[in-house]
Amino acid sequence: MWWSRFKSGFAGTWDDRLDGLFSAKVDYAGKSILDVGCNMGVVAYEISKLKPSSIHGIDIAKPHIQTAKMLLSGSPVHARFDRLNLGSRRLGNILLPQYDIVVLLAVYQHMQRNIGPGKARRVLSNIVRRTSNVVARVHRNAVRRGIPS
Ligand SMILES: C[S@@+](CC[C@H](N)C(=O)[O-])C[C@H]1O[C@@H](n2cnc3c(N)ncnc32)[C@H](O)[C@@H]1O
Repeated sequence: MWWSRFKSGFAGTWDDRLDGLFSAKVDYAGKSILDVGCNMGVVAYEISKLKPSSIHGIDIAKPHIQTAKMLLSGSPVHARFDRLNLGSRRLGNILLPQYDIVVLLAVYQHMQRNIGPGKARRVLSNIVRRTSNVVARVHRNAVRRGIPS
């Protein structure tokens, strides 16, 4: 399991978002990917170029999900994007039982803020038990508040 800790504040440019993602030497080819808090699908799009078998993105924002769907519409990779609050009871129905890789980039601190630390922890546990590989970028404040190990 890979955990990378983002030391500085999250600047938010696309370059920042992708920084370090592909130097982690993760082999995405042929793998099923879950992108938690996928935003507009830019990370999913970049991963799609590495020929995963599938990408499943989840985000709370409808415009983000619409953009992600459009972005990946021309990709040969099987892509599915769901608009969902990760704190929703429907999460269990939406998630697949298993993913090869879960991508969790700069989203945990948002979950802690908008669904509360306890629930964020339970949701994260529910997600990560579906995989043995997590690629994460975690803000240092989230680390201080306690990421489940
Ligand atoms: C800082 S952005 C990171 C986006 C993307 N992972 C990246 O690195 O480019 C956090 C994302 O998490 C989403 N998000 C925040 N809270 C969420 C929640 N409770 N459920 C689903 N998505 C959420 C936001 O809409 C946003 O797209």
